Amino acid sequence: MGRIIVGKASDISPGKMKKVTADGKEILVVNVDGIYCAIDDTCTHAGASLSEGTLDGSVLTCGWHGAKFDCKTGKLSSFPAKIKDLGLYKVVIESENIFLQV
Ligand code: FES
Repeated sequence: MGRIIVGKASDISPGKMKKVTADGKEILVVNVDGIYCAIDDTCTHAGASLSEGTLDGSVLTCGWHGAKFDCKTGKLSSFPAKIKDLGLYKVVIESENIFLQV
């Protein structure tokens, strides 16, 4: 398991997202009202990049077919079909920098 720097915490303001590639994975770092979360960027339905979706509080809606995931848990919260939850990654803030544990 490694630790990868994502950038400055101030670069991702509340309600914003940033897609990063870490350890060969595409990961979406999200600021939910000052709490940083990191989840898989690839939708488990048909592979859309969730960075192109919309964020409302901690609920991220996929831009392709509307699956909703909770950014804090990675869990699917709404979709007609049963699809997998998203992978969740540990985020550490140190000296104003955001690190991912991958
Ligand atoms: S690809 Fe995300 S809901 Fe279909």
